[in-house]
Amino acid sequence: MTENETNTKPPHTGKRRSTFSGKLGYVLAVAGSAVGLGNIWRFPYLAAKYGGGIFLLTYLILMLTFGYALIVSETALGRMTKRSPVGAFQAFGKKLPFKLGGWVNAVIPMLIVPYYSVIGGWVTKYLFEYLRGSTEALAQDDYFTGFISDGFSAELWFLLFSFIVVAVLFAGVKHGVERVSKVMMPLLVILAVFVAGYSMTRPGALEGVRYFLIPNFDNFSWMTVVAAMGQMFYSLSIAMGILYTYGSYMKKEVDIEQSTKQVEVFDTAIAMLAGLMIIPAVFAFSGGNPDTLQAGPSLMFITIPKVFASMGFGTGAGIIFFLLVLLAALTSAISLAESGVSTFEDQFGFSRHKATVLMGVIMVLFGSASALGFGVLDFVQVIGMSILDFFDFLTNSLMMPLAALATCLLVTRVAGLNKIMEEVEQSSGFKRKKMYCFFMKYLAPVCIVIILLSSVANVFGWITM
Ligand code: TRP
Repeated sequence: MTENETNTKPPHTGKRRSTFSGKLGYVLAVAGSAVGLGNIWRFPYLAAKYGGGIFLLTYLILMLTFGYALIVSETALGRMTKRSPVGAFQAFGKKLPFKLGGWVNAVIPMLIVPYYSVIGGWVTKYLFEYLRGSTEALAQDDYFTGFISDGFSAELWFLLFSFIVVAVLFAGVKHGVERVSKVMMPLLVILAVFVAGYSMTRPGALEGVRYFLIPNFDNFSWMTVVAAMGQMFYSLSIAMGILYTYGSYMKKEVDIEQSTKQVEVFDTAIAMLAGLMIIPAVFAFSGGNPDTLQAGPSLMFITIPKVFASMGFGTGAGIIFFLLVLLAALTSAISLAESGVSTFEDQFGFSRHKATVLMGVIMVLFGSASALGFGVLDFVQVIGMSILDFFDFLTNSLMMPLAALATCLLVTRVAGLNKIMEEVEQSSGFKRKKMYCFFMKYLAPVCIVIILLSSVANVFGWITM
C-alpha cells in the first residue's frame, strides 16, 4: 500500500489521516486484503459441499448485487466520515443502536483472526512437510485427520503462525508486508493457473469441472444461499468494518464504483481458480466420492497433496504452493489483527503496545480452543459443531448478516441514500444508482433477515436445509 500524507483531518483526533496514493493503490490494498484463505481454502470446500455449479451461480448473483451495494456503501460511509466503523457509526449519533452497529462490525475481525490463524498453522505445517520431502506421506487418506487430532501438534503450528502475526504487528512493518504481497499475488495467480490446468486434465477430472461450473438445480438448498452469502462477506472482507477503514483512507477523486468492480473481479477470479484446482482433483483422485465432497475445512489439505504426489515435481510444487498460500494467509491475518488493534487504540485509548498484547491474548485463547477442538477438546461441541466451525458459523452466518443489516439501516434510515450518492458522485457518475437504491432500500434488508432466521433455525434443527 503506498500511502501519502494529506491535509485531511479526521474530525476528532486532530491527527493527519494518511490516504492511498490513488486508484491503483486503493485497488491493490483492498484486493490484497480480500485475497486470502477465503479464496483458496474456504471457497472450494463450500462450493464442493453446497452443490457445485449452483453454489457458484448463487455466489456470483449475490456478489454482483448485494455485495456490490454493500461495498459501495461501506466505502462511501468511510470516506464521508473519515473514520473506522465504530467512529463512523457514532458520527451519526451517540445512542445505543449506533454503538452496537459500529461494534458488531469491529468485533468480527477479532473473532475471525484466531481461527484463521489455526488454518494458517495447518498451512505452515504442510509447507514444513513439503520442505522435508514428505510428499507421499501427505497424500495419504488419513494424514490430515491424524495431524489435527494428534494432541498438541496443530496447536504448536497455530502458535507459531500467531507468533509471526503478533511479531509483525509489534514491529509495525505493515508496509513491508504489503510490498511482499504485491509480488506474491501475480506469482500465486500463475501457479494457480498452472495447477488448475494440471488438475483439470487428469483422467476423470472433467466430471469435477462440470460439477463446479454447471448449475444443477437438484443440488440447490436454502443452505446454498446462506453459505454463499457468508462466503461473499468473508471473501470480499465485507460486513466487518474493514472497508469503512479503507474508505476513510481513500481520496475523493477515486471512482468508488470502478474500484469496487475491479476488486470483485480479481477476488472472484482467484476463488474460481482455486475451485478449478481442487474440485476436479476430488473427482480425479477420489472418484467424486460424496464423502470427500463434504469434507469441509479439510478439503484443500486432502486433495491438493494428492495432486502434487502424482506430479513428477510434486515436492517443488508443494513447496511453492504452500509458501504462497502461507504468505496470502499471513498478510490477511496481519490486516485482520491490525484492525482489532486499531479499534482498541481508537476506542479505549490503549497504547499500540497494549492493544497488540490484548489482540495476541484473544488470538491465543480462542485460537487454541479452535485448534484443540479436533484433538484433546474434540468432546466439546457447540450446537453440534466443532469449535472452529462454530466460530466460522458465528461470524459468517450470524454476525456478518447483522453487521450488513446495521450498514443498510445506517444508509437508508440515518445517513440517507442521497448522501451516499453524493459521496459516490464526487468522483464520477453513479452508473448503477437505480439498482443500488432498490437494493439497499428493499431487497437487502429483507434478504438479510430471512437468511439470519434460516441459519439460526437450521442450527437448532427447527428446519432442515
Ligand atoms: N477476505 C479474506 C480472505 O478471503 C479474509 C478477510 C476477511 C480479511 N476480512 C479481512 C483479510 C480483513 C484482511 C482484512 O481470506
